[in-house]
Amino acid sequence: MGKSRKVIKPIYMDAAATTRQKPPAVLKAVVDYASKVGVSHGRGTYQPGIAANELVYGTRASLARLFNLQRSDRVLYMKNATEAVNTALKGFLKQGDHVVLSSLEHNAVIRPLNKLKRDRGVDYGLVPANSSGRMNPFDFEKALRPNTKLVCLAHASNVTGGLSPVAEVGALCAKKGVAFLVDAAQTAGAVPLDMKALQISFLCFTGHKGLMGPPGTGGLAVSPAVALDSFLEGGTGSNSDQEEQPQQWPDKFESGTQNYWGLAGLKAAVDLLLKTGVSAVRKKEEALTAQFLEGVERIKGLKAYGLPSGAEKERVAVVSLNLQGKDPSEVGYQLDERYGIMTRVGLHCAPLAHRTIGTYPTGTVRFSFGYYNTEKEVETAVKALKEIAKS
Ligand SMILES: Cc1ncc(COP(=O)(O)O)c(C=O)c1O
Repeated sequence: MGKSRKVIKPIYMDAAATTRQKPPAVLKAVVDYASKVGVSHGRGTYQPGIAANELVYGTRASLARLFNLQRSDRVLYMKNATEAVNTALKGFLKQGDHVVLSSLEHNAVIRPLNKLKRDRGVDYGLVPANSSGRMNPFDFEKALRPNTKLVCLAHASNVTGGLSPVAEVGALCAKKGVAFLVDAAQTAGAVPLDMKALQISFLCFTGHKGLMGPPGTGGLAVSPAVALDSFLEGGTGSNSDQEEQPQQWPDKFESGTQNYWGLAGLKAAVDLLLKTGVSAVRKKEEALTAQFLEGVERIKGLKAYGLPSGAEKERVAVVSLNLQGKDPSEVGYQLDERYGIMTRVGLHCAPLAHRTIGTYPTGTVRFSFGYYNTEKEVETAVKALKEIAKS
C-alpha cells in the first residue's frame, strides 16, 4: 500500500477573488426560486410571473438602500463589476474625452479604456500612488484637464488592500462638474458605501465577492444627475410595439432574459447584510487583518506590501506579501500543498498596481479574508508562512 496523504482541512483565503462560502439563506433563495418560481419577469401575466416581477423590483430596492441611492430604477443589473465598468465607460465617454484614474486600477478599467483610446480617441492620465498604495487627493485636481469628463477610482485596491480617498475625490469631481466612477468590486458588502455622501456618479459592484451573493450577479448604480447611453439593445419585455430601444430606466439597459436564480441569491445576500449591517462585517474583517499583519510582520524575510498593522481602518482584508528569495508561485504552491491554504499568486489582473508597488512582473502572494474566516485559520496561516520562510 502506498503512503496515504495527510488529510488537511482546507482554508480558503482568496475572498478578493470570490467568497467561496455563501450564507445558507443565499443558497436556499436560489433553490426556492428555481424550484418554486422559475419564470422570467415582465413576460407572462401568469401567477409565477408576478413573483418574478417582485424579485426584480425588490432586489433593486434592496441594493438602492444598501448604497443609499434614492432612485432604485437607477440600479442596473449586470453580470459582474467588469460589465458594469464597460457599460459606464462605453455609454458615457465620447470622442476626444479625457479620463483621470489612479495607478492602482484593475484591468477591468484599463482594458476598456485602452479600447476606447483606439476606437474613440479617449485619452487618460494616471495619478500615481506611492509604493504603499497611498494617493494624494490633490494629485487628482492637478491631473484634470478642460476635457476631463470622468475620474475612475477603485474604492480599494485588490493588490494592496488600501482604501482610496473617495470622499475627497468625490467632492473634487462635484466641484469641477466631472463625473466620478467608483469600482467597488473589493468593497461592496465589506465597507459601508453611501453614493450620495461620496458624490458618486457610477458605482460598479459585483455580487460574488463581499456581498456574498452568487457569481454572475452585480450591477451599475447610476446617480440621477448623469445621462448614459445603452451598450446593449434588445427585448426588455416592455414597449414591445416599438423597434427602438425603450428609453426609460432600467429597461434601457436590461435587454434579454435576466439571471433570476442569481438575483434571488443576491437579494437574500443583500437583505442579510442590511439586517446584520455592513459595519459588523467590516469589524470582523478588520480584526482578522490586524491579527494577520501583526503575525506576519514578525517573520524574518517577509515583506508585506501596503499599509502596516495599525492602519486597518484605511484598508480592506487584502494583504499582498513576498518571502525573500522565494517565487510567489512556489510559496502559493507550498501553502496549498502542505497546509491546504488557498491564496492567489501573481499579478491579480492588476499589472499597473504591481508596477506601482514594485512587484511587477512576478507579483505577490495575496491573502484575502472574508466574513467566514476565523482567528484560528489566520493563526494557521501565520504559522505556515513562518515555516515556509525558514525552509
Ligand atoms: C478592483 C477590481 N475591479 C474589478 C474586478 C472585476 O470583478 P468581476 O470579476 O466580478 O467583474 C475585480 C475582481 O477581481 C477587482 O478586484
